[in-house]
Amino acid sequence: MQQNSSLNIGIIGWRGLVGQVLIERFNQTKILSNETVYLFSTQVCDDITPPFIGTKAIQFGLSNDQSALAQCDILISCQGSEYTQRTLSNLRENGWSGYWLDAASHLRLNPEATLILDPINGATIKNAIINQQKTFVGPNCCTSLLLLALQGLYEQDIVKHVDTHTYQAISGAGTQQLKNYLTEVSTASKHIDINDLINSCCQLENPDNKSTLLNNVIPWIDVLCDEGVTKEELKFEQEATKLLATQTPISATCVRVNTLRCHSQSVTITLDNHYTLAQLKDWLSQGNDWVKLIEDTNPCELSPKYIANTLNIAVGRIRQDKHRSNVIHLFTIGDQLLWGAAEPLVRTCQMILKYQRQALGAKTDQVDWVK
Ligand code: HSE
Repeated sequence: MQQNSSLNIGIIGWRGLVGQVLIERFNQTKILSNETVYLFSTQVCDDITPPFIGTKAIQFGLSNDQSALAQCDILISCQGSEYTQRTLSNLRENGWSGYWLDAASHLRLNPEATLILDPINGATIKNAIINQQKTFVGPNCCTSLLLLALQGLYEQDIVKHVDTHTYQAISGAGTQQLKNYLTEVSTASKHIDINDLINSCCQLENPDNKSTLLNNVIPWIDVLCDEGVTKEELKFEQEATKLLATQTPISATCVRVNTLRCHSQSVTITLDNHYTLAQLKDWLSQGNDWVKLIEDTNPCELSPKYIANTLNIAVGRIRQDKHRSNVIHLFTIGDQLLWGAAEPLVRTCQMILKYQRQALGAKTDQVDWVK
């Protein structure tokens, strides 16, 4: 990579939900305005106008074209774990030494990969960049959203245990599931008659009894692992422990609901002691720039509709447990496509670009890292 020349940035899987939000954030932040952007997808699509503005040039490619991928200095993959599994090792074996940024879970616990959530582990990410590490992976959406919400408490080192119950948006299950759900809603709404409303629970049942999300919640996300815990539920503790670099006990129950973009969580936190609610709220609000404490007097603001398409991490319903003085409860909401997926990738890409532009040949403490 040359310090002043344009870099080649490849975005793989750019037409999916995460890819689209990633591009939207790159457009808003103008981080790639000096770079050449390659948009890779599984099918040829150079007849589509790319939703990209302000870059030096745009090229299209196929996501299985290894030689085109290898021309990129930074590849950002939103294509999923299977794709990562079959692509990255081939690229590396063939000598590609660029940066790989990934939204998928496959590499998250790999010791050679750095998990990226810079408000939480910014120093680790900077060290990894300075030390020429090349693999960076966004954490699980709910894990990121939970850690951002509780950052102020984790920083006080007062958290003993966290129990979370999630209400996860359909978009987390992928584009096809979102389309299926919207089709179901549209079909059902055409057939509903005022006389049927009283029986609407039955009317809306899917006739083949598949677990769709119309009139439903689904308490199974990802595969079932040992002892009745799902893979999605295991990720909290595994990834939080890696991100915070200390054993971080979290128990979870993950549930899919029919919201569109935001994952919500009902959280019970066991602290090492009793603290006043005023003190705890103060610490929570100081966690990072995105946490917004919602007072009970503004109930509408604590809803997925209100938070969707923003970087805000809403935290509300903060209350003491009635029976245990060292236990509190709260409710938190974040957009799973932004902080839950695209934003950590965008910000790490920005950090790498800043490092490349400013640190090569200069002192690393002069890097104007992302705030
Ligand atoms: N694992 C998440 C889900 C995807 O199933 O909702 C990321 O949001």
